[in-house]
Amino acid sequence: MSLFRAGLPALLLGASLMMAAPLAAQAAPMDAAAAQVRAETKQKAPTTEELTKDQDSYLALVSRDHPLDPADYKPKDLRTIPGTGMELRKDAAAALENLLKASRKDSQSLSVLSAYRSYDRQLSLFNGYKARYGTDDAMRLSAPAGTSEHQIGLAVDLGLSSGRCSLMACFGDTEGGKWLAANAADFGFIIRYPADGEKVTGYKYEPWHLRFIGVDQSIAMEKSKAGTFEAFHAALLKASKVKPPTAAEIKKQRESLLILRFLPPYRDWSIGYDFAR
Ligand code: DAL
Ligand code: ZN
Repeated sequence: MSLFRAGLPALLLGASLMMAAPLAAQAAPMDAAAAQVRAETKQKAPTTEELTKDQDSYLALVSRDHPLDPADYKPKDLRTIPGTGMELRKDAAAALENLLKASRKDSQSLSVLSAYRSYDRQLSLFNGYKARYGTDDAMRLSAPAGTSEHQIGLAVDLGLSSGRCSLMACFGDTEGGKWLAANAADFGFIIRYPADGEKVTGYKYEPWHLRFIGVDQSIAMEKSKAGTFEAFHAALLKASKVKPPTAAEIKKQRESLLILRFLPPYRDWSIGYDFAR
């Protein structure tokens, strides 16, 4: 009886691992470029301070509710994206180059439509939308100056080189759009304004707008199924406020577990839960 009880969890774990092994072997090996970006941008768990105060953080939440301060903020490490006259922050530009390289390898032809935009450039874009569609609709399509992720140099708009569905929702249904949705996270990017996210993000679906958050976090967000960066950011913030236990607390917990282990009936699975006693 006791042996059976002790052995069952191990048996189940072993069986599930045996079933998982062939699946893992079938998974495609990660692209070398994606692996390189992942290694280069290895991140630690973000602090509350970083998440709420650091506008230079790859995890900075910039939106109409979280405007830049000063409004004309400009990142310090902008770099030209080769082959374009446009700029992104250094790591985002390198990640984008790797993403574009991988997309070409998969026979996709994507072009950079827009990347870093200054306060003045965003102001003139937003005013253009306002003149054309009125303020209410402009607000669903374009960020007022001082509130755009393009201004922090971590957002990039991509389109098909053919120009089809450029900056339109139908881009999401094209091969290129689908490729981006499936692969962006491997390079540190997220689709920032998802189809059903307007209530949370404030913006209509933008399958072309990628936001760089670093590869560890983009993978974590994908796994979390948070849906929007707002939701993911809120979860990170909550986690950052949980105080890790002190060394003394860990020691105390271990000691009490040890005592529990040797109190009858024995609860340690390695010994067995002996009902026969
Ligand atoms: N289109 C996005 C919301 C921007 O203007 O930043
Ligand atoms: Zn954009």
